[in-house]
Amino acid sequence: MHKISKIAVLTSGGDAPGMNPCIRAVVRTALYNGLEVVGVRQGYKGLIENDMYDMSTRSVSNILNLGGTILKTARCLPFKEDAGMDTAYKHLKERGVDALVVIGGDGTFTGALRFSRKFPDIAVMGVPGTIDNDLCGSTYTLGFDTATNTVIEAIDKIRDTADAHDRLFFIEVMGRDSGAIALRAGISCGAEAILLPEKQTAIEDLIKNLKEGKSNKKSSSIVIVAEGDKNGGVYDVAKAVQKEINDYDIKVTILGHLQRGGSPSSFDRILGSRLGFAAVNALIAGETQKMVGLQANHILLTSLEDALNNHEFKLEADLLQMVEVLSI
Ligand code: F6P
Repeated sequence: MHKISKIAVLTSGGDAPGMNPCIRAVVRTALYNGLEVVGVRQGYKGLIENDMYDMSTRSVSNILNLGGTILKTARCLPFKEDAGMDTAYKHLKERGVDALVVIGGDGTFTGALRFSRKFPDIAVMGVPGTIDNDLCGSTYTLGFDTATNTVIEAIDKIRDTADAHDRLFFIEVMGRDSGAIALRAGISCGAEAILLPEKQTAIEDLIKNLKEGKSNKKSSSIVIVAEGDKNGGVYDVAKAVQKEINDYDIKVTILGHLQRGGSPSSFDRILGSRLGFAAVNALIAGETQKMVGLQANHILLTSLEDALNNHEFKLEADLLQMVEVLSI
């Protein structure tokens, strides 16, 4: 086990509320333990372009409440190539960096694992930061709670106008291949139906369900469509339903990137702080190629390989079952 002395920290992939509290915890935990810290701008792009700066405790003042990431982020294709990784390694070595904290989702971890296998002398620790909540080894990822609350706030507002006009709304939410945001927001807002990538919904069943609701004196209906749903996207779903239901005025809303912004919730501020603190302590303890995650309210380590290989994230069975029961 080699003793580390200088940590680089970066955020990569889609930003997520809670990344800033996590960066703050990484920087301050490292400095507290006598380590130096380098901030990398724009994720792996900053490693390749040598865009890094020394961080002090004041570099992370007053950022707990900020959405986005003060380090900025990017999706960086050149880091997938050997040449990109070699350049990144050279820049880190020139600065004397011997450990790296990467905050991001599955794309970020895939890059981190490849880099760490190629250059094992730089220890790597992952922090699950994505609104999608789709990584194994952490019940919740950073940003998921805030994003879900943002979605709930938006859908509550849509419900007001849907109800005023007796309309049927189809609302698309983010999550890539994960229906985690859709499911939680749908239950929280009393959606009449939730279309998820993890559970195929036949359009005929959806139509039957909506017709039943109408005959059950529902004045408005909300259908949440996760962006990864396999029915062809929110507009196709709305069009297919429109053909069969003509006593409802149908509208479509895509919530889009507003779901990624905003001040982190209390949950994400605490989670970010816990994960950042744990990531640095794990590196000090000699760990590498791992991810820190929340499991049964404890912070535990999972290998990056397991976090990625067991990618199939299971949605809670009781939540899936109750969608139909609670929306009658
Ligand atoms: O991974 C986070 C996420 O917001 C996904 O939910 C979404 O599919 C994707 O990123 C959008 O990426 P971009 O901001 O690059 O368009």
